Amino acid sequence: MVSRVIPVEAFDLVVFGGTGDLARRKILPGLFRRFVSGQMPKSAQIIAAARSDFDTSRFLDVVSASINEFAGIEFASEMLLAFLENVRYVKIDAMGSDGWDDLKGMMRGECVRAFYFSVSPALFGPLAERLKTFGIADDQSRVVVEKPFGRDLASARELNQTLAHHFREDQIYRIDHYLGKETVQNLMAVRFGNMLFEPLWNAQYIDHIQITVAEQIDVEGRGDYYDKSGAMRDMVQNHLMQLLCLIAMEPPSQFSPDAVRDEKLKVIRALDEVPPHHIVRGQYAAKETVPDYREQVGNRSSRTESYIALKAHIKNWRWAGTPFYLRTGKRLKSRVSEIAVVFKEPPHSIFEADSGQKSNTLVIRLQPDEGITMDVTIKEPGPGGMRLVTVPLDMTFAEALGPSADDIPDAYERLIMDVIRGNQTLFMRGDEVEAAWEWTDPIIEGWERRNDVPKPYDALTSGPDDALMLLHRDNRKWRAL
Ligand code: BG6
Repeated sequence: MVSRVIPVEAFDLVVFGGTGDLARRKILPGLFRRFVSGQMPKSAQIIAAARSDFDTSRFLDVVSASINEFAGIEFASEMLLAFLENVRYVKIDAMGSDGWDDLKGMMRGECVRAFYFSVSPALFGPLAERLKTFGIADDQSRVVVEKPFGRDLASARELNQTLAHHFREDQIYRIDHYLGKETVQNLMAVRFGNMLFEPLWNAQYIDHIQITVAEQIDVEGRGDYYDKSGAMRDMVQNHLMQLLCLIAMEPPSQFSPDAVRDEKLKVIRALDEVPPHHIVRGQYAAKETVPDYREQVGNRSSRTESYIALKAHIKNWRWAGTPFYLRTGKRLKSRVSEIAVVFKEPPHSIFEADSGQKSNTLVIRLQPDEGITMDVTIKEPGPGGMRLVTVPLDMTFAEALGPSADDIPDAYERLIMDVIRGNQTLFMRGDEVEAAWEWTDPIIEGWERRNDVPKPYDALTSGPDDALMLLHRDNRKWRAL
């Protein structure tokens, strides 16, 4: 199967925070890959704006180095030179007036203008305001904002109001890069493009759903930020919540931004409050040469969680009685992101009790080895009577798509191309973000009120024992990491 690359129209993309970590690791190498694939037009211009004292030529060295390190593809050196031809740097003062006229002078006439705010949320307002007062952004321009989008409902509301002061909602692209992952979109294709699953997609047939985002990495030098956020704010309020929405939402009437986001919003609003005994917080302890969480964030008395597991319920007809178990953490045994939909057992088994029958599980695997598998029960081949085994029906994309699976764009690349195309389907709307904070705020406030201390867990294991108990109590088991 040959993947189709449809070029986007010409654009000027300004990346504020253009020398930062995200720009170097994801945004610039991602744009380069789109350039190599032919999706990004040769005339597109990328302008990095930051406060560092660089000039364009020094910045191009940074870009080359980041592409060599992070692009993950082979390419001819002429290709890199062609890409760099349209990359510029401008030194800018986000809070003052220096550099803004220079930026204005670099923008071209007729093309899409997009502004990527890869900076602290405190700068969203000043940047938005200056883009307008210096006449750089107009009614057609788009702004892309990175997470964290606030740290609670009040701050998220404030950010929404600040942005709304300068831009319409259809110009604002709030990134949650999990929505740009290939399998996440495939989840919608599988659910809504097939007749097979939807009739079974409810509490009558589904026993429970597990959503896991396990990481092996630690806080990776982001201790300052992470210790003020923790797994709840860093991962659950956004990435896991978005996965939950896509799994649980009603079929939208069409695949359009507001139709999809309306349905996701209904899921968040239908989430029940989570009582404290349905949540387990953990913090990793040292193991052999691996230092503990507190040492890594430089805060010996930290009470921030690096792991969380919880049981959520959705109060609607489709899901009443089906628990959603969510877990995420750092420094775990392996890197696994997946959603497992565990079906109920058949109402009556015609086979012997020890025949080996198991319930069907649909596993949507985000990383690594992205793909979808469905565990089905079949007869063990050969003699020996009616012995049953469970085998996966494998829909691993790499196999189905052949070599073109290598062309699957990384989440950031896809999302930036969507910004240029003006498609907001895979971006969060302001009301969605606020609703997500509305659900998480009382949980976090409860911990603060009770001075809750997270349970220690050994680094490079499956997390705290209490998390195992959360499912054992319900006669269920987490999938192995
Ligand atoms: C980010 C979090 O949003 O997502 C990080 O801030 C986390 O803490 C990362 O490591 C995980 O993303 P991915 O794509 O590597 O699963």
